[in-house]
Amino acid sequence: MNCAVILLFTSSCCICSVALDTPSRAESKKLKYLFDPPVYAEVAGRRGDNVTLPCILKTKPTHYRVKWTKLEPELLGPENIIMISNAHASKPYGHLGLRASLRNAHAMDASLQLSHLELADGGIYRCELVNGIEDESVDITLSIEGVVFPYQSKKGRYKFTFHEAKQACAEQDGTLATYSQLHRAWTEGLDWCNAGWLLDGTVHYPIIHPRPVCGGELLPGIRSYGSKDKDLDQFDAFCFTSQTSGSVFYISGSFSFQQAAQACKRQGAELALVGQLYSAWRFENYDQCDGGWLKDGSIRFPIRKPREHCGGIPEAGVRSFGFPNQMTHLYGAYCYR
Ligand SMILES: *[C@@H]1O[C@H](CO)[C@@H](O)[C@H](O)[C@H]1NC(C)=O
Repeated sequence: MNCAVILLFTSSCCICSVALDTPSRAESKKLKYLFDPPVYAEVAGRRGDNVTLPCILKTKPTHYRVKWTKLEPELLGPENIIMISNAHASKPYGHLGLRASLRNAHAMDASLQLSHLELADGGIYRCELVNGIEDESVDITLSIEGVVFPYQSKKGRYKFTFHEAKQACAEQDGTLATYSQLHRAWTEGLDWCNAGWLLDGTVHYPIIHPRPVCGGELLPGIRSYGSKDKDLDQFDAFCFTSQTSGSVFYISGSFSFQQAAQACKRQGAELALVGQLYSAWRFENYDQCDGGWLKDGSIRFPIRKPREHCGGIPEAGVRSFGFPNQMTHLYGAYCYR
């Protein structure tokens, strides 16, 4: 009976489309061995945290393996296996290496533990019970808690190809944001009138206060330019970062860029990266009403409690004065240690 159902499923799959083999597959079938819905369908953690992706057996078939794979955002390409285990042993695979382990809290536990979370660990994970006849699976979303920040080239607006945008985010302690990270940032108040690359090669910008110069008087929302040519088209970047292990501090002064770098060095620190400043703003409520140099040569300052004389913008945010001449002696220094 079950075989017949599977055959039917398989053959119809060949005729219509690959859409049948999406994460929703698990929901369309009543599971015999795995708890479904899973204990938590979504797990969240910050960079550096340890998390557990739950997967619990209800009953055990005589012979089986449990296979953990990551589906997104690397959906394209070969299957991304993280862990394979049977009743006796388990073996980690792939890029997570020893950061992945099985929790093994009890006899029915196939939950996956990930330690020292990294920015790129976010995505959809699948716990699959494989016994050769009735394979079944549950999907769990891991979201990295963090902050999205728009990033523009020193050379001006819309100067990054996709690859340059990716590189620019990495240099500021971030990654290119995913669409869902940008969407979440929009729900939390990000309004930005310049289009930027996302990790999947699409270009978007988030608007809360619709205005004619920013895509017209449409409803608030995320404006989309769709997929763009990664080698030819040029835009800004939306970067994503999370908690950091160090902290950001401000040194007051009227420094040139070089002097600011030396002031940090004297404190055993370095000029902060843009991502590090955003992380401190987001996770430590860092608020400092003074423009200061950052390592990329920009001047910024983080505001949690908006006030008239600190930029005059009614929303919290990290303000930017762009990239002034590095000889300008006007600003303090934001350092990271
Ligand atoms: C995370 O797990 C590792 C072992 O894998 C442990 O050394 C570390 O202290 C844990 N970190 C936290 C924040 O719990």
